[in-house]
Amino acid sequence: MAILFSISLQPQAQLTESKQQQLDNLLKHDCGSCHGINRNGGLGPSLLVSDMEKYSLESLAAVILNGLPGTAMPPWSDLISAEEARYLANRLKSTQD
Ligand code: HEC
Repeated sequence: MAILFSISLQPQAQLTESKQQQLDNLLKHDCGSCHGINRNGGLGPSLLVSDMEKYSLESLAAVILNGLPGTAMPPWSDLISAEEARYLANRLKSTQD
């Protein structure tokens, strides 16, 4: 009798759809209040996909979590998890809407 080892293809813990929507909203409205609703800049610099090339995903997530001390860019670690910061970093690096 063959014993079949099944590897469960469990995807990495994923943020739920509603959590993603919440984060998209945060990006548009909270980040947007300083960086522009279309991320084309305001009090803070523009955060267009092309502006984000200088950051790796992880370093961008770290900027979001820790803020930029000594500037108006606040830390978000009280409000979002590291995984959520990576989601935002990925959005910033890959999509413009
Ligand atoms: C209160 C205003 C404010 C809010 C809200 C804010 N930022 Fe910023 N952010 C800034 C300012 C100002 C800078 C530029 C700091 C500097 O280098 O002088 C900045 C810089 C950045 C940078 C670095 C940009 C670069 O080109 O190096 C990133 C990335 C960034 N913010 C992402 C975010 C994200 C994502 C959010 C929302 C979760 C957010 N910011 C919310 C003010 C803000």
